[in-house]
Amino acid sequence: TIKSVILSGGSGTRLWPASRESYPKQLLPLTGELSLLQETAVRLKGFAGAEVDPRPLVVTNEEYRFIIAEQLRQIGVRAPQIVLEPVGRNTAPALTLAALAALEEGDPVLLVMPADHVISDVTAFQQAIAEGARAAAGGALVTFGIVPDRPETGYGYIRAGAPVADTGTARGLAEFVEKPDRATAERYVASGAYFWNSGIFMMKASVWRQAIARFNPDMEAACARAFTARSTDADFIRLDAPAFEASPSDSIDYAVMERIAEAPELGQGVVVPLSAGWSDVGAWDALWAVSDKDADGNAARGEVLFESSRNTLVHAGSRLVAAIGCEDMIVVETPDAVMVAHKERTQDVKKVVARLKAEG
Ligand code: GDD
Ligand code: MG
Repeated sequence: TIKSVILSGGSGTRLWPASRESYPKQLLPLTGELSLLQETAVRLKGFAGAEVDPRPLVVTNEEYRFIIAEQLRQIGVRAPQIVLEPVGRNTAPALTLAALAALEEGDPVLLVMPADHVISDVTAFQQAIAEGARAAAGGALVTFGIVPDRPETGYGYIRAGAPVADTGTARGLAEFVEKPDRATAERYVASGAYFWNSGIFMMKASVWRQAIARFNPDMEAACARAFTARSTDADFIRLDAPAFEASPSDSIDYAVMERIAEAPELGQGVVVPLSAGWSDVGAWDALWAVSDKDADGNAARGEVLFESSRNTLVHAGSRLVAAIGCEDMIVVETPDAVMVAHKERTQDVKKVVARLKAEG
């Protein structure tokens, strides 16, 4: 069986003012009734072609524990394991903790997923996972590649190598470059030889543990100490805080994926192409792109009136919002803040968030 691991510790500031540090984007219902975290868990149900343990393991910040437990309960997830980090140390320690927890029950293949993605074609997603599971069971570190449509610098890029078997679409991982600069990203996209890294990974728990022990032994040791001295209450697994705080901070991508080729004895890097309507809804324009739209290209959430408007997203949190003559706009209303932005400038939301932080 496959053990699913959901990483849910990030704060998603580019979706301000809906997403806050105290209530980040993965816990918000952005595209439908369910939050992105709930969608992530629901996507695993009714899996064809591979057996997935219905109890996900969620790694998150201590602060979000009650919302997460409640959201999982709402969708009928029973007895999840929720690992609580006292501080954020990025995704590599989070996955190391998940691997340590999984290794208590054997050595399952882990399906590691961010909590804040939209995937519209669940059947295609499940097929890719089934293929990834076969490679991971054989000891590979598996990534899932998205065909890029723009030189996004916030993603990892993967160059695929030779097919790994006669059947299926999996290819060797020839190169992994996390968050390249603009010129490099442009070159990669123009070459047609690169995928984006989706941020979804599969590997056996033992393979991850060995990889992190090889590339960042201090991290592995700190996580092992923090996990060994844990305490459990109900579904929550609490780490030894000082031990975890001592862990270096790094992402899965920088800590291991960029470096797999240095340690061929650990297992092969593999990329499985994923064509499933993937979006990481990193910013408001991405949310507009994946939302249901009317004939004029307008998308709405909450109580919204459009008059002579086009290609506009209005997110009304608590009040009625009317948009008149708006084109390519984003409007987000919440009880204590309203944001109005041009759709092309939604990356700059982080500048506003930084100013708000600086000005207290
Ligand atoms: N538990 C935990 N602890 N989760 C975390 C932490 C942490 O300290 N930091 C981030 N996460 C969660 C986030 O909530 C998100 O669900 C996931 O881990 C990925 O983290 P991001 O911070 O969003 O990563 P990124 O977007 O910069 O880059 C990753 O995703 C891209 C695709 O969206 C990389 O894997 C890129 O290579 C990839 O292209
Ligand atoms: Mg992200």
